[in-house]
Amino acid sequence: MKTINIAIDGPAGAGKSTIAKMVSKKLGYIYVDTGALYRTVALYITENNIADEDIEKSLAKADVSLRFVDGTQRVFLGDRDVSDLIRTPAISMAASRTSAIPAVRAYLFETQQKIARENNIIMDGRDIGTVVLPNADVKIFLTASAEERANRRYKELAEKPDCPTYQEILDDIIKRDYADMHREISPLKQADDAVLVDTTTLNLEESAEAIVKVIESKIG
Ligand code: DC
Repeated sequence: MKTINIAIDGPAGAGKSTIAKMVSKKLGYIYVDTGALYRTVALYITENNIADEDIEKSLAKADVSLRFVDGTQRVFLGDRDVSDLIRTPAISMAASRTSAIPAVRAYLFETQQKIARENNIIMDGRDIGTVVLPNADVKIFLTASAEERANRRYKELAEKPDCPTYQEILDDIIKRDYADMHREISPLKQADDAVLVDTTTLNLEESAEAIVKVIESKIG
């Protein structure tokens, strides 16, 4: 049976995961967060202090996997659930760097394609519509201005101890955007056949609604 694949790409902080989760619930599809896979590989490389030239052969032993617990994606390194450990600024930066290494992308490629072959999915990332699922039924490029993305992130973190300043968050976003868009392999870019959804002036519900409309217009 042919599965339905919806690809959502866009820069860090555009709300991809929150919005994709809302839409996947509505449609009854599985939501796949590919950034979590890149973060898990980054954690593995960081924890084991692996030099770039040793990454390719080390990954064969890494055992990164996706599992679904009560319908929610969790990421595992061997039998260890690392879904929470990968959400630190240090791992964000490490993932941005290590995701530019061809051996890392090759390692995760089949994991992503397999889950799309076997399930109706909404998959978010940077290169889903361009490289991983070039034949996706629907492709969306979700974005928002860097200032608005920093603003949202700042509000999310404001209550926490050691909250970075707005300017630090903005600088980080600009740095990551640049790295993700200018790397040689699978850079972040809008696929020719992707629909652009800009959420700068939309709240979460409005963004999810805009995406559902795009999906309905493509696959009814
Ligand atoms: O979406 P995120 O912030 O959790 O992603 C973490 C890093 O992984 C991000 O800097 C870019 C990289 N990434 C990627 O290169 N390709 C993907 N499909 C998803 C994420």
